[in-house]
Amino acid sequence: LVCRKQAVAVSSGTAALEVMFRAAEAVGVPLAGREILVPTNTFIATAVTALRAGLRVRFVDTGAGALNSTVAAFADAASALTAAVCAVHIGGQASRDTGDLVTWCAERRFALFEDAAHALGTTVDGHPAGSLGLAAAISLFPTKVATSCEGGVVVSDDEALARAARMLRDHGKLEPARNFHVVQAYNWRMSEVQAAVGLVSLDTLGARLARRRTLACRLDRGLAAAGGDLPLEPLPVPEGVCPNAYKYVCLVARGLDHDSIKAALRRNGVICGGEVYAVPLHLQPALRGVFETPAGGFPNAEDVCRRHLCLPLHERMTERDVNQVVQAVIGVGRR
Ligand SMILES: Cc1ncc(COP(=O)(O)O)c(C=O)c1O
Repeated sequence: LVCRKQAVAVSSGTAALEVMFRAAEAVGVPLAGREILVPTNTFIATAVTALRAGLRVRFVDTGAGALNSTVAAFADAASALTAAVCAVHIGGQASRDTGDLVTWCAERRFALFEDAAHALGTTVDGHPAGSLGLAAAISLFPTKVATSCEGGVVVSDDEALARAARMLRDHGKLEPARNFHVVQAYNWRMSEVQAAVGLVSLDTLGARLARRRTLACRLDRGLAAAGGDLPLEPLPVPEGVCPNAYKYVCLVARGLDHDSIKAALRRNGVICGGEVYAVPLHLQPALRGVFETPAGGFPNAEDVCRRHLCLPLHERMTERDVNQVVQAVIGVGRR
């Protein structure tokens, strides 16, 4: 799925991120004290694991009306200290210019990492998410498209990086069977029971992704057929990106109140789950004062976090369910 030579199973997506950042040193990418660019529209673990790995984190805005950060946004945030970039494929979507980001990083010798927690199965110009940079972290948390109950995977083509990751996940042991520790680390191992669950889930993933994509297409078509008078519109899928349909993200029309639209959908029988991320990292109380935030904040991320909602999408939905969602949206109208 990810087309990488190496995969190192760990205890969570969070562990995968920290192990990945720390393992980079083994391949001559010393990151401690250097700066990594991290989108502010992501899960807290993307930033906190980089911090724990000794990096400085600089936040990056998203593109306008988009979940993901563009090359222009990364370029805006880059400084003389920047050594790495972490692209995050939020909601299983990727930025339209992900290919350009790969080139932009290579030209500057920035290490490119991917937080592909949401994006197992997503492709960009035919390349799987998770295969674009030095290494990627995948989450197998139960809400994701594949799960091992809790779990994560570090993927890379680099054998030395994978070797370092295997050592880091097991208390920095030189060999698994000997308590001889060459670096300070933790127990970040995946248990065998988790691994067994994960293998079963991965086995069926291809068929489940196909079903998710079919349902997403039906939602697209149903909403498009309803015409322009809807309270929300699906986030457009950028050309060249084939999302895994992990989330069906819509933006509430400007001038309408997000929470009221969600409540009206609920009255019409459609309960939306949570947002991908309703609050960007620079506004999270836990991170207040930890990272530099420009005076004007990050307006694009704040807008998309506030305005988006996720319509129900799950592989067990029927055509009737999809129709019910579409009718509920039409029923809410623009009131
Ligand atoms: C973007 C992103 N990165 C990392 C993680 C952490 O993954 P886990 O919950 O498996 O630790 C998550 C979890 O939802 C996530 O959404």
